[in-house]
Amino acid sequence: MSITKQSVVASFLPEKTMPGKTAEAFAPSNIALCKYWGKRDVELNLPINASLSISLGELGSRTKITPSETGDQVYLNGVLQSEGSSFARKVIAFIDLFRRDLDQPVKVETNNNIPTAAGLASSASGFAALMLAINDFYSFDLDQKVLSAFARIGSGSASRSIYQGFVQWNKGEQEDGMDSCAEPLAVDWPGFRIGLLKVATGAKKIDSRSGMQRTVESADLYQSWPAQAEKDLNTIKHAIAEQNMSLLGQTAEQNALSMHATMIASWPPLLYWQPESVAAMHRVWELRASGVEIYLTMDAGPNLKLLFDAKNEAAVREAFPELTDMDLVAPFG
Ligand code: DP6
Repeated sequence: MSITKQSVVASFLPEKTMPGKTAEAFAPSNIALCKYWGKRDVELNLPINASLSISLGELGSRTKITPSETGDQVYLNGVLQSEGSSFARKVIAFIDLFRRDLDQPVKVETNNNIPTAAGLASSASGFAALMLAINDFYSFDLDQKVLSAFARIGSGSASRSIYQGFVQWNKGEQEDGMDSCAEPLAVDWPGFRIGLLKVATGAKKIDSRSGMQRTVESADLYQSWPAQAEKDLNTIKHAIAEQNMSLLGQTAEQNALSMHATMIASWPPLLYWQPESVAAMHRVWELRASGVEIYLTMDAGPNLKLLFDAKNEAAVREAFPELTDMDLVAPFG
């Protein structure tokens, strides 16, 4: 039988979990420049490939846990979630990994300040903030690598949201997955800018979790992905070290489109793009052809994230007037 998340987590905790005291934590959202796509272990969320992201500074999730008198309660952006909702079930199942047989109901309040208009997934910042709050609530005092590995059990990309700046998530080799955790790259790139370009609305039909599973199981093209991801990650690290926007942008864009190619080659096919996404991609390419260095990346949804240097901000704003101040992120302040 393969190893369970309960047993991995328990091996890092005290024998018994003691009652907790109010705790609050924040974690940033992140955008992968070299994507995580495909798991080698579904139970522990262990990835097939390493990935690399940039965290979004003050944009993310703030989570507060307090002891509750009236049973477990989960709030999202101020709204009480019904017990059977998928959000409440995921949060409580994650808390249960740490609460174990302690009989202490909790109230969990999560607030996301990511502009809703950006259509960004919040599971990365959500699970990272929840993990940090749990660590404080039960006074576990776990170290950051362990916090990152445990956040990964909640959602893979959450392992990277434990840190700010550029972050690498190593795929790891250990059976218990504890070396599959993220680490920050000690680099500042003050001029680095991200534009969150929302082009289409509506809930996505297939979440990343099922999308990547379908790709791994049905797309022959996926076989080329692990080697490409490894190469791209090295190139992006090199580009970051040199602050080379052309190399970084080109590699990140090609990495994202290659990931989407594997999705399109799945069965049934997975195409997250809407006609508006394709139109926006052409606008990016036209702007680039006119001499403005701008690149795009996309996750499992229809929206684009633009990558560019601060010196091109005016040109980007002019070409994409729908970008508000909130949609423009300077990850290094
Ligand atoms: C396309 O981390 O949401 O955004 O581990 O199943 O929770 P689970 O998946 P998730 O997948 C993110 C996929 C991605 C690429 C990335 O962020 O690296």
